[in-house]
Amino acid sequence: MLTIEEAFTKFRSRLELNEKEQANASSRQREIRAHMDTRFDVEHDFLTGSYARHTKTKPLKDVDIFCVLGEGERHYRKEAPSALLSAVEDALVDKYGRAAVKRQRRSVCVDFGVKPDADDKTDHRVVSFDVVPAFALGDCYEIPDLGALGGAGGWTKTDPRVHANKAIEAQKAYSSEWKGLVRMMKYWNNHHDKPIKPSFLIEVMALEVLHPPYGGERSRELQAFFATLAARIHETWSDPAGLGPPVSDVMDAAMRSSARMALLEAERAAAHAIDLARRGRQGDALRAWRELFGPLFPLS
Ligand SMILES: Nc1ncnc2c1ncn2[C@@H]1O[C@H](COP(=O)(O)OP(=O)(O)OP(=O)(O)O)[C@@H](O)[C@H]1O
Ligand SMILES: [Mg+2]
Repeated sequence: MLTIEEAFTKFRSRLELNEKEQANASSRQREIRAHMDTRFDVEHDFLTGSYARHTKTKPLKDVDIFCVLGEGERHYRKEAPSALLSAVEDALVDKYGRAAVKRQRRSVCVDFGVKPDADDKTDHRVVSFDVVPAFALGDCYEIPDLGALGGAGGWTKTDPRVHANKAIEAQKAYSSEWKGLVRMMKYWNNHHDKPIKPSFLIEVMALEVLHPPYGGERSRELQAFFATLAARIHETWSDPAGLGPPVSDVMDAAMRSSARMALLEAERAAAHAIDLARRGRQGDALRAWRELFGPLFPLS
């Protein structure tokens, strides 16, 4: 039978991007860029966010594509952010249809109609893309932002390179286990109706709460990760690059309280699973971890 550590190694690799998924993401990237070119002056585009940092979980959804707009679109920068998001939305509706396109806070989501099966598999296809129109501003970018919790919104400055470098440093300091633990925590979050919002907040918190060195056992790392997230979910978490609004700005007090409850319950479930393994009940321990995380946690 699989040991718990072997199960976590398998789980970690199941949450990693594979070549087929990357090929599918590249072809969707080219398709979206080609269509955006017919409607906007696009200077260049790139895949970014957790996809580019290898902190995205599975099923592979909401891959971020930045479309950096040229001089021809600068007039939008003087308008309300909703004007640019609406223009991008209209353009994408023309290609993908009304039902597949949704305007969001800082992006427009295109759903490709891929439905994950009961085991969270998508046959290596990406479920959706988040199209983010952006303006270059020195070394960073400005993106439209409709705001959160009734806030005003505006133009958010963001620097994907700083976020990427911080993740690389954390990964290095944590014996190359940091990104895997972040993907697992995001997978848990999705499996429990997203108590933590946005899921980028998990990564931002992980930069502080996963203290190197790595302890050597994924099960204990995760138990402690759940406990520390619960203890600190009420804090304000700023943009690690120090440019945008706090990453925790979408969660009000009630949402933070229910996230805390969900995290404490997960911590207890993790403690129980660890105890089962300690008592030699390997099969029960594997099932307990799978129940906590979801179908991509292996039983064999
Ligand atoms: N408050 C913020 N200020 C500045 N930049 C931000 C902020 N929130 C998000 N970003 C940047 O935008 C990117 C895309 O945001 P998104 O919410 O999709 O997060 P993500 O890291 O891609 O996580 P997910 O796995 O949920 O897609 C982030 O990776 C980050 O680089
Ligand atoms: Mg994203």
